Order: sequence, then C-alpha cells, then structure tokens
Amino acid sequence: MQIITSVSEMMSLAGRLRAEGGRIGLVPTMGALHEGHLSLVKIAKDRGSLVVVSIFVNPTQFGPSEDFTKYPRPLEADLAACQAAGVDYVFTPSPEEIYPKGYSTFVLEEHIAKPLEGASRPAHFRGVTTVVAKLFNIVRPHFSVFGQKDAQQVAVIGKMVVDLNFDVEIVVAPTLREADGLAMSSRNRYLTHTQRVEALVISRALRKAAEMVAAGERRVDRLIAEATHLIGQQRRVRIIYVSIVDRLTMEAVKGEITPGKSVMAIAAWVDEVRLIDNEIL
Ligand code: PAJ
Repeated sequence: MQIITSVSEMMSLAGRLRAEGGRIGLVPTMGALHEGHLSLVKIAKDRGSLVVVSIFVNPTQFGPSEDFTKYPRPLEADLAACQAAGVDYVFTPSPEEIYPKGYSTFVLEEHIAKPLEGASRPAHFRGVTTVVAKLFNIVRPHFSVFGQKDAQQVAVIGKMVVDLNFDVEIVVAPTLREADGLAMSSRNRYLTHTQRVEALVISRALRKAAEMVAAGERRVDRLIAEATHLIGQQRRVRIIYVSIVDRLTMEAVKGEITPGKSVMAIAAWVDEVRLIDNEIL
C-alpha cells in the first residue's frame, strides 16, 4: 500500500495508472475509519479495480461552531485498517495542499443541498461538493463509492456529477449498523455509554416507520408523528429534523409515500453529539 500526501504526486500517479489501463475506484473519507467505511472499500475491491481511499478532514464542510478541530484523526490505525482491507493507495493530503493560500473557487449545488442538513448546516454541502470535485480531478476515478448513511450527500454528489459532466460512476453502499441498530459513524466515538443507549432511539424510530409501511401505512403525517413520539421519550435526544423526502430530490413528500421512493431522514442531538440516520421507506 502506498501513501500519498501531495496533490501533484497523486495526479501523476492517476495519469500513469490510467495510461496503463488500470481502473480506479475512489472511496472518499474523513478517516476515523470503521466497518462502514471498510464496507465501501470492499465494494470497490470486489469490482476488481485499484482502490484509492482518501483521508482528509475537510475544513470547508464544517461550520464555525462545529467539531472540525476535535474531529478524531487516528491516522496510524486508519492506515493499518486500509492495509488490512487491501487498499492500494491512501491519499491523505494536508489542508494547505487542498486549499493553498488564496484558494477561492467553490462548487455549489443549489437545490438538493438546501433542505435537511443544508438548512441546519448552511455551508456544509458547499464544502462537500467542492472537495469531492477536487478529489475527482486529482484521483481521476472511474467510479467512487458513497454510503447511503449520508442520503442527502449521495443525492447532491449524484446531481453534481450529472450537472458538471464528471465521467465518474457513483456507487451507493447500504448503511452498516452495529448489532443493536445504531448506524456506524465516526462521531459515535464521542458518545458515553448512557448517550449511546439513548441514541438507539433514532434507528428504532426509523425501523418503526419501516414496519408501519410494511403493514400498509402510507400517510406521511402518521409516520412522522410516530417517529417523533418515540424519540421524544429519550431525555438526552433532541430532534433537529424528522422528515420524509424524495430519495433523489430531497423534496418533502406530501400526503402519502410511494414505497421505495421516499427516505425518512432524521438528525438529532444526543446531548452535544449531532447524529444523522435514514431509512428508505
Ligand atoms: P465520512 O463521514 O468519513 O464518510 C465517508 C463515507 O463513508 C461516506 O460516503 C459515508 O456515507 C460512508 N459511511 C459512513 N458511515 C457509514 C455506514 N455506517 N455505512 C455505510 N457507509 C458509511 O462523508 C464524508 O466522510 C465526507 O463528507 C466526504 C464525502 C469524505 C467529503 O469530505
């Protein structure tokens, strides 16, 4: 496994690999790798391509009061996990390498990025689309794997790729969960035992909604009311949003859902830890 920290080195390597006929799969991450990330790597490897994992805690997607400085950066453990997973190249640039002094160009998706995460984290997707566009230009992947865990991110990146004619296939991986249902997340490391137990209500609420749909419920207000009611029973959990949206456009579904086309998306504070999760209904 080769570790690359410089943009120019990564660009010439990508050019060389392409010239030799290699297929490149990119898994973009912010590190603090867990089984969820590694399931994306496995999907990329199973496609028989060279796998590049990027590890970059992207400053532009964090708001001023968010956890950028305290975001976990266990690089040694991450590199060992990549090595064990059979990753070919890890691209781990410094912030100055990606955003040199005087950097001033940003990529903005202006529709899908507006609601949900976009409403409560105003500059978040501007940072995500900008860094992912840069990673696509630097690593030049044939395909890139993203997790359904971040449903809106998947939709926004998919739209960016179409709108800006990126020649990159977007592969979507299912959400990996702990045995008790909690969606795996780098931010789960912040949770104390008590907080973690209360955080389980988020996946429980999503599961309840899925069960209601399986039993024939279609009404958006009923599904949201039940999920909201469940979460309201936990003292440490405060809802930021519980929404049912179209899985492609992220627009709120009105009236009734069409099974398979809608997503229930939840964001909540568990004390000071912000968690998101979603389920396709
Ligand atoms: P990060 O939160 O590190 O996630 C990297 C990738 O792993 C994303 O595609 C995310 O959806 C996926 N992922 C996270 N938890 C998962 C789980 N439990 N199951 C399956 N996939 C999971 O998302 C980002 O980083 C950044 O926004 C990034 C795209 C790297 C741009 O900076």
